[in-house]
Amino acid sequence: MEVVPLGSDSEIAAVAAGIIEAVVRHRPAAVLGLATGSTPLPTYRELLSRHKAAVGPSYAAVTCFNLDEYVGLAAGHEQSYLATIARELTDALGISRDRVNGPDPSSDGLETAGERYEALIAAVGGIDVQLLGIGSDGHLAFNEPGSSLASRTRVKTLTAQTRKDNARFFSSLDEVPTHVLTQGLGTILEARHLVLIATGESKANATAAAVEGPVSASCPASVVQLHPHVTVLLDPAAASRLDRLAYYREVYTAKPAWQGF
Ligand code: F6R
Repeated sequence: MEVVPLGSDSEIAAVAAGIIEAVVRHRPAAVLGLATGSTPLPTYRELLSRHKAAVGPSYAAVTCFNLDEYVGLAAGHEQSYLATIARELTDALGISRDRVNGPDPSSDGLETAGERYEALIAAVGGIDVQLLGIGSDGHLAFNEPGSSLASRTRVKTLTAQTRKDNARFFSSLDEVPTHVLTQGLGTILEARHLVLIATGESKANATAAAVEGPVSASCPASVVQLHPHVTVLLDPAAASRLDRLAYYREVYTAKPAWQGF
């Protein structure tokens, strides 16, 4: 695991966008795993500004898979993650909507939605690079504390903390769905490269538990410690409770340019 303490959101966005662009340059038909929420937005804006300036790669052949989706919103709801990703990133990158996938939250078929989503991911050969945020309660995608470290895509119930955290996207707490479909922790571990981003003081405890705590279902994000290729990009506030912060800084300062991420 490479833990990279950076100075600001914009530095994180530059590094994360560089990782994604490198994957797409190497493999124009790359499969990108996308997260929603606030954390990846600066990265998405950076990708878009490079694309508009015609310095980014072509995304025409790229396929995307969202990490998760709310259950119970009206089809096409502006806060659905499929609508959010199209609005924030993929439409403007020129990725056609039929290449952007999310777990299907239709009420008739929820029991098979997980298996169907996993089959779609498998059919394209898996995810090349998966962007991840972290919940203030340590959730990864919407695998809340207590989720099996081997879990697959399925319906989960959000914690009260996560519903409260996400209420800012809705007019009231009551409107935040109680259920979601989420890639499982076992599913996420199959992506070839995990890029976990954490920003802000509210993520400091969860980040320390994920990166330096024991691997435990009590902090689902700690499962990344089991993956062979993980990059953790942190702002100063999110990194502030790491015991080995000085060491991570030393390693990053001495990182050879040829190494990449
Ligand atoms: C979103 C997702 C969640 C978020 C997490 C952090 O697709 O899977 O795990 O990454 O809730 O959300 P923000 O970035 O809004 O703090």
